[in-house]
Amino acid sequence: MTATTPPPARPPRAELHLHLEGTLEPELAFALAERNRVALPYRDPGELRAAYAFGDLQSFLDLYHATSQVLRTADDFADLTRAYLRRAAAGGVRHAEIMVDLQTHLERGVALEDVVAGLAEGVADGEASHGVSGLLILAFLRHRPAAEAEAVLDAVLAAGAPFAAVGLASTEVGFAATPFARAFERAAAHGLRRTAHAAEEGPASNAVEVLDVLGVERVDHGIRAMEDEAVVARLVAERVPLTVCPWSNVRLRAVPSLAAHPLPAMMAAGLNVSINSDDPSYFGAYVDEVDDAVTAAFALTRDQRADLAAASFAGSFLPPEQIARHLAAVDAWRAAG
Ligand code: ADE
Ligand code: ZN
Repeated sequence: MTATTPPPARPPRAELHLHLEGTLEPELAFALAERNRVALPYRDPGELRAAYAFGDLQSFLDLYHATSQVLRTADDFADLTRAYLRRAAAGGVRHAEIMVDLQTHLERGVALEDVVAGLAEGVADGEASHGVSGLLILAFLRHRPAAEAEAVLDAVLAAGAPFAAVGLASTEVGFAATPFARAFERAAAHGLRRTAHAAEEGPASNAVEVLDVLGVERVDHGIRAMEDEAVVARLVAERVPLTVCPWSNVRLRAVPSLAAHPLPAMMAAGLNVSINSDDPSYFGAYVDEVDDAVTAAFALTRDQRADLAAASFAGSFLPPEQIARHLAAVDAWRAAG
């Protein structure tokens, strides 16, 4: 950097909570629908985007699963992954851990090999063209049978597909995590890392369930943990990373407004939180935009922003030496302000 170059406005960061299918922009959805001769029940991308008004998690998931139907070929998955990583890198993301809803794609007859080939091509392009690394997470869907999750895990292991971790996503209320214990145990036995959504819409005890029953290393969301002091104390004591998605929580009405979001209280309580986007196309904000919004809403200091960015790398599933390299970059950003 020369003397006249200002330091970047945003810190380098990892994105730890991101659903690949949630990055599908309406324009790309229509292009893929045409390419694959799939009908979308909207006239154009504008009309699809206008439908992005959600009352809760389920109303979003219904549209998200329906629109994912346009993803059919290896090229589709490559294009989607490439587009996300290009956009993420432009916003300062240096490493992304990408959840993929494999079950929904396999269910409609897409071959595992095609999904994996496309993902691998997209990730390789992100690294080569934008210097951003990508790590793939197989997200089990909690509204579907646990036996199906185990079968998909078997297929992934048999194929040697490059998933580094497993996760648990989809409808939280009414669908317990406990039935997925065996899938997580088998994933762990094969060296896969583990994360799970919990305490997004469901109670604080759901965070305890995924820690104790699934053996997860981090918790996706975890905002409702704030309703139980004992759960907060445990998460603080164990330094459990929480991948918080403040703008997603606003758009899915888990909180009434950004100003009412528990993020500042979570930071003040000593919780190990990072900022993430979740489903940036559907919620209208990539992680850099979420960072800008929370920085403004809570008047975050440069140090607090650097702490959040450092937590994103420290909570990642990267090897320790790579985490250390990224943390040094965050410290350089912190010092440059
Ligand atoms: N899948 C995609 N986004 C999700 C969210 N916010 N919660 C649960 N499952 C999801
Ligand atoms: Zn999510």
